[in-house]
Amino acid sequence: MHGLKGVVAVITGAGRGIGEQIARRYASDGAQLVLVDSNEELVISLADELHKLGADVVPLGLDITQPEAPASMMTESVKRFGRVDVLVNNAGVIRVRPFLDTTQEDWDYMQNVNAKGLFFCVQAGAKQMLNQTPISEGRPSGKIINMASIAGRAGRKFMCAYSASKAAVIMITQSGASELSPNVTVNSICPGPVDTDMWVQIDAEWTAIENTPRGSAWNQRVQGVPMARAQTPKDVAAMAYFLATKDSDFITGQSYHVDGGVMML
Ligand SMILES: NC(=O)c1ccc[n+]([C@@H]2O[C@H](COP(=O)([O-])OP(=O)(O)OC[C@H]3O[C@@H](n4cnc5c(N)ncnc54)[C@H](O)[C@@H]3O)[C@@H](O)[C@H]2O)c1
Repeated sequence: MHGLKGVVAVITGAGRGIGEQIARRYASDGAQLVLVDSNEELVISLADELHKLGADVVPLGLDITQPEAPASMMTESVKRFGRVDVLVNNAGVIRVRPFLDTTQEDWDYMQNVNAKGLFFCVQAGAKQMLNQTPISEGRPSGKIINMASIAGRAGRKFMCAYSASKAAVIMITQSGASELSPNVTVNSICPGPVDTDMWVQIDAEWTAIENTPRGSAWNQRVQGVPMARAQTPKDVAAMAYFLATKDSDFITGQSYHVDGGVMML
């Protein structure tokens, strides 16, 4: 309990789904939080709820693709809490598109949030972390956790632009880890299909393309999970917790599959 007491964490895409669950997990373990989402109402309402449970939380309505957004997240955290110990780059978007129908606008939409936006958040987070002393002696001065996907490990039908953007996240993670160690660790998480609104959208777009019943794309994915159940945001939050704690201080440049065994490398 309280493994993150005194830790300041900034989480992007914290308004719902996986990011929301990471926020809940970090708050229950004692972290102070800056919750970022382009949907401001979502983070305001989550922050209100977490305040009532005794957590110290700042909600920020920001679109991470805006050039000034990465630096403002850091400035707000420093203004309120004096530092940034953990940055979780979780904000991400998808469009399910057949390879031949993917437009330049589709490509830019996914790359701008998932790869370019994330890169500049990593950069802003690292600049802040390198400029502060570690939370305790001998520890890194900051930890960055990026949300990739198993789609970034293997190309997927109807998901070329998304898969390419998530492969970029894995490479940004490795490049950042190489250059920022030993002061800042950079790792990523590769979830499988997680039961969130994003998958409701994926299922709707996928089944429309294949002209199959709604729900069938999701059901098919869940049936292929060796651990024999749908993945939940809590499964992902557990890894995000580990990567934020002291127990993972020696780990950097890694991308962990949290997918019930879908991808075995
Ligand atoms: N759900 C899955 O199956 C799955 C699997 C693998 C990886 N992922 C990744 O996990 C992350 C979270 O996924 P989720 O399922 O919780 O998605 P979600 O769509 O349910 O939630 C994403 C949140 O990010 C916010 N967001 C989107 N673009 C933003 C931007 N430009 N700036 C700030 N906030 C923004 C949205 O408003 C939303 O609140 C994403 O990076 C996604 O690609 C999800």
